[in-house]
Amino acid sequence: MSQTLVQAWNAAKARLQAAGVDGPVIDARLLVEAAAGASRTDIIADPRRVLTEEQAATLESFIARRERREPVSHILGRKGFWKIMLQVTADVLTPRPDTETLVELVLRELPEAKPFSVLDLGVGSGAILLAILAERPAGKGLGVDVSDEALAVARENAANLGLAGRVALLRGDWTRGLGDASFDLVVANPPYVRSAEIAGLAPEVRDHEPRLALDGGPDGLDAYRELAPEILRVLKPGCPFAVEIGFDQSTEVEALFKAAGAEAVATHKDLANRDRVVAGAKSF
Ligand SMILES: C[S@@+](CC[C@H](N)C(=O)[O-])C[C@H]1O[C@@H](n2cnc3c(N)ncnc32)[C@H](O)[C@@H]1O
Repeated sequence: MSQTLVQAWNAAKARLQAAGVDGPVIDARLLVEAAAGASRTDIIADPRRVLTEEQAATLESFIARRERREPVSHILGRKGFWKIMLQVTADVLTPRPDTETLVELVLRELPEAKPFSVLDLGVGSGAILLAILAERPAGKGLGVDVSDEALAVARENAANLGLAGRVALLRGDWTRGLGDASFDLVVANPPYVRSAEIAGLAPEVRDHEPRLALDGGPDGLDAYRELAPEILRVLKPGCPFAVEIGFDQSTEVEALFKAAGAEAVATHKDLANRDRVVAGAKSF
């Protein structure tokens, strides 16, 4: 039976709600729009438009996947982050709005026209690195990840955004392999979930996102222990760093960076008023 856009939206909402999806209204709209090739305004302005058989079949497969709690970003293969659109696969962490806090913070401190180099440790899809470089044409960056699959996604995103000429992507274990290279800015969003808490995460995250992007070891701080002294080592004197943290990790992460010799170490909150970023600088 042929369905109109609005009928399809309502039916999808009901099914996603029954499956326990958080935010079924928006997810249903995104899936209907993508399956029907409709824009956000079509669904309001032309709600009686009828889906073709092919569109209805595509929508059915999208809803079935979402009912199994696959993230919308995996079903659509893309996710908006900051001001850019990124390709996303199951090999990378889906970029989070929380991470925009870090991007906003560092962009505030980066002059428009001044050349600079940025290192993104654990680059994943390229979200942080590419969002920064998209807004600062004089910047160039290096993204490091231990996952070849993630690097392939970041490479495609850099090319799609016309940034490939200013981005290098390197497979490596954090800073090992960087030799004595140094940077004007270092950013990282490392894995920081406590290992024992992973089992209790939402199925979208627990079952569909790479464990390598999540697991921060027994207390969630393994990566910061390694990264704090290394970030200070690869920064140029007087230059800043910013790392994303879990909402309850500020004290410990600040302490690690202070112990490594960082200056002006401070925690910054996200839009929900939770601690989200620890930032500071290397002394001169
Ligand atoms: C939380 S994700 C962040 C991805 C992306 N930067 C973002 O903010 O959306 C952490 C990333 O760190 C990478 N990673 C984990 N251990 C690593 C290691 N030892 N060296 C380099 N990258 C690592 C993972 O593969 C993953 O892409």
